[in-house]
Formats: sequence, C-alpha cells, structure tokens
Amino acid sequence: MSSSKSKEYWQKMADSIASQNETTNKRNNEYLKTDIEFVKSHLNKGDDLLDIGAGSGLVTNALIDSVKQIIAVETFEGLTQFIHKDILVINAELPTFKIRKEFDKIVCTGVTHFFTKSDVEKIYGNMFKMLKSGGKLILRSHCGLKETVVINGYSEELSSDYFTEYRKLEEEVELIKSKGFTRVDVIDEVADELNVWENTRHYYFVCYK
Ligand SMILES: C[S@@+](CC[C@H](N)C(=O)[O-])C[C@H]1O[C@@H](n2cnc3c(N)ncnc32)[C@H](O)[C@@H]1O
Repeated sequence: MSSSKSKEYWQKMADSIASQNETTNKRNNEYLKTDIEFVKSHLNKGDDLLDIGAGSGLVTNALIDSVKQIIAVETFEGLTQFIHKDILVINAELPTFKIRKEFDKIVCTGVTHFFTKSDVEKIYGNMFKMLKSGGKLILRSHCGLKETVVINGYSEELSSDYFTEYRKLEEEVELIKSKGFTRVDVIDEVADELNVWENTRHYYFVCYK
C-alpha cells in the first residue's frame, strides 16, 4: 500500500484550488484558531521554524510574527500560491525531504495520517535530524482509539478516492520515539468540531529532541 491515493486527492485540489480555505475541514474550520494558538504557545521570537506539509498556509502564515524565520515545505505548488511572500517555500515530496539545516521547532498539522506507516517513519526520521538538540516537533495528528483505522477507497462526503491511516495512538507515540525523540507529550485539546468519529480522535503531540 502507498500514500498515492492521498497524493492524487491533494494534487487534484492543488490543480483547481480557488481559495485558501479549500484545504480545511469541509464541516467547519473554527479548529484553525485552536491549532494556531497551540502552536504559538510553543514558539519563541528567535526561533527558526520549519513547517512540513504547510498546505495553503492557513497555519504557517499566522506564525510569521511569532518567530525569526519560517521555511514551509509542501509538495503541491498550487496550494503554496497562498503562502505569504516573506516565507521561503520548498515544493518537495515529504517522505524524502531533508535539508542540512537544524531548526529550533518543526510544526506539522493535519498531515501525518495521510501517509502510510512506512512513509511517515521516513518523515519522522528526517524531522528528528533537522531539529536542533533541545528542539521540539509540534504535531496535530488524527489517530485510532482502540485500533488503527484505515480509509482506503471512495469517500461519498468528498466525492473522491481517499486514503488516510489513523494509526492507534500508542503506536504513533512509539513510532515517534523510535526515531530518537526522548519524550512525547500527547495533548487532548484539539477543537471539538474536528472530533466527530467515535473510533478516532485528533491530538496534539509535542516531541522533544
Ligand atoms: C489538511 S492539509 C494541512 C495543511 C496545513 N498543515 C494546515 O494545517 O492548514 C494536509 C496537507 O497534507 C499534504 N499531503 C497529504 N497527503 C499527501 C501526500 N500523499 N503527498 C504529499 N503531501 C500530502 C497536502 O498537500 C496538504 O497540504
């Protein structure tokens, strides 16, 4: 199995996107305020920040005044047209993206569940290498509660083929730790409007190098 179905979904959106808000949850995007406040609470004015899977910049654009510099990585150029002109944008494949620079913080919101375990393992491994010692990775990810839940097929709600892998929460924590992170805090404070399924839940993760 690969993440090619999620890739096709986002490529299609990138080819036709007309407004920045199209990348948000279709039901309600009030959760964005909570995401932005959560991420900001972990940033310092002097930080070098890397945003992985920055999409149309809904989170990253809001962080400009909270850090020294942001580099935003996103595969699809069509999405990144909305990212603020002062942010350096790199269009690259996420599982293989790595640059020889170390960041104080890395942020990645609403991205990791679109990748299979083997792809996300590469992403977490490269994130660890791109963090300074003492740095933090701040994630929002969607996880399975009792077990891993995979959606791989046609979604009526989105009228499209779709792939997501909501890995069991404890497994995701172990996966992150296996890449070298010394401590992973799981924070159950994601806005209620994102948590609509009884067998899955969104969490924030703060991972320490
Ligand atoms: C819900 S958006 C989140 C964007 C942004 N981080 C935010 O919080 O607004 C999901 C992002 O994951 C990226 N993504 C999902 N599946 C992908 C894949 N298979 N390959 C590359 N990028 C993918 C999409 O391009 C998109 O930018």
